[in-house]
Amino acid sequence: MDAARLINEARKAQQRAYAPYSNFQVGAALLTANGQIYPGANIENVSYGLTVCAERNAVFKAVYEGEREFSAIAVCSSGSGYVYPCGACLQVLAEFSPMIRVIVSNENDDYREYELKDLLPQIFSI
Ligand code: THU
Repeated sequence: MDAARLINEARKAQQRAYAPYSNFQVGAALLTANGQIYPGANIENVSYGLTVCAERNAVFKAVYEGEREFSAIAVCSSGSGYVYPCGACLQVLAEFSPMIRVIVSNENDDYREYELKDLLPQIFSI
């Protein structure tokens, strides 16, 4: 699966964001080890702290469906510049796939690729 296609899926997901408070729509597309794509978008709440990011939305949907291994996630947003997953989302991704490829994109769909450990070098574990 090439990065451009995964970003395209994330762009479609971004349109489903519910972000009336920040007006910052985020889309994610999570690729499983067997080639399935799970899209997600951020879902906000009037009690702001209850907001769920696009990335965690995608992971939780996939895990609920029985998926446990992920090979890549692409993220895009309505903002300008590259959008990086927050620390909480990186930790959630690490739970299942510490080697996952993280693809971040900007407003022109240019992208940069990382391994999760580049972005979260010290994963919390017990
Ligand atoms: N957000 C995401 O969905 N993913 C990120 O990686 C960073 C932030 C959302 C949360 C909130 O709805 C909005 O972006 C502004 O913070």
